[in-house]
Amino acid sequence: MNAAEVDAAILVGGKGTRLRPLTLSAPKPMLPTAGLPFLTHLLSRIADAGVKHVVLGTSYKAEVFEKEFGDGSALGLDIEYVFEEQPRGTGGGIANVASKLRYDTALIFNGDVLSGCDLNALLSSHEERQADVSLHLVRVGDPRAFGCVPTDSDGGVTAFLEKTQDPPTDQINAGCYVFNRDVIDRIPTGREVSVEREVFPGLLSDGLKVCGYVDATYWRDMGTPEDFVRGSADLVRGIAPSPALKGHRGEQLVHDGASIGPGALIIGGSVVGRGAEIGPGVRLDGAVIFDGAHVEAGAVIERSIIGFGARIGPRALIRDGVIGDGANIGARCELLRGARVWPGVTIPDVGIRYSTDV
Ligand code: GTP
Repeated sequence: MNAAEVDAAILVGGKGTRLRPLTLSAPKPMLPTAGLPFLTHLLSRIADAGVKHVVLGTSYKAEVFEKEFGDGSALGLDIEYVFEEQPRGTGGGIANVASKLRYDTALIFNGDVLSGCDLNALLSSHEERQADVSLHLVRVGDPRAFGCVPTDSDGGVTAFLEKTQDPPTDQINAGCYVFNRDVIDRIPTGREVSVEREVFPGLLSDGLKVCGYVDATYWRDMGTPEDFVRGSADLVRGIAPSPALKGHRGEQLVHDGASIGPGALIIGGSVVGRGAEIGPGVRLDGAVIFDGAHVEAGAVIERSIIGFGARIGPRALIRDGVIGDGANIGARCELLRGARVWPGVTIPDVGIRYSTDV
């Protein structure tokens, strides 16, 4: 199948609640990841595969996508946008792009997945098996947190299972599908529809041919702070593939206009954004520092995200935390284990501690 005669549609309309407060100011697919809007990594992979026409299915903070990507020509793509006034869910989002599709086959993507799946191999598998729909499936160590997708010996999907404590397979839905155009037209319109819970099970019960394509490439859903931090570090280290990074590989990625004080240690795939200031003796390990943030002398930031323009005071410790845009964390504060600080909030010096040795 010629990828230039396949549409790509990307669902980017979700509110990204699990990544709040970062997603209060930007939709999840636009959060800076290894220095680029997350979606740039996915779009560059789509362009690399030879696909030309892309439709973005927007809803939440829709306007920022067109502002960033325009007509797509900078990426060698032809990008169009559709808008859902009311978010229609992952299935409704697919139905909503239908009017813009040009070809008989569409690749559909969740806009928050970092993956190395070979899109041309996925398309070939779809064509060879004469499937109505094909799903990219990945094997994960602990499938209990995901919907499972068992397949038969020919790769035919036999069921779509909700999260269960006793999963019969380690194969999960990887959030990337090939749909024949006529199948998209079967999705109900005008109401919220889940592709995972409603559309896929319905296709099986209607006897359509739904196939799984399993591979062992890199895969991560970036929906939680923990996964966002890990995915970002994997991009920096070259473990996660992205044609947009042009082969960057290293322990750190420090952007133009950032300043780094003497004795600062930046490791673990950390990213320092444009104009950020990292003070003397700071330790960043797997940290994601957005543009314009300040991290003052001796602070330690591990596996955490520091929002745009936030300030982290001297000798503060942030571990597995998310600090909102413009928040101000006082000296020697300790924020650990999933702490989230909302944008603009100030925590005074020594305001929160997990230990008493101040
Ligand atoms: P959470 O609120 O944290 O679950 O995030 P989310 O809203 O992004 O939901 P989820 O991770 O399940 O969404 C997977 C992908 O589908 C993401 O790229 C979303 O942007 C997208 N998406 C989710 N809901 C909708 C919707 O109603 N319409 C459109 N167009 N896209 C959606």
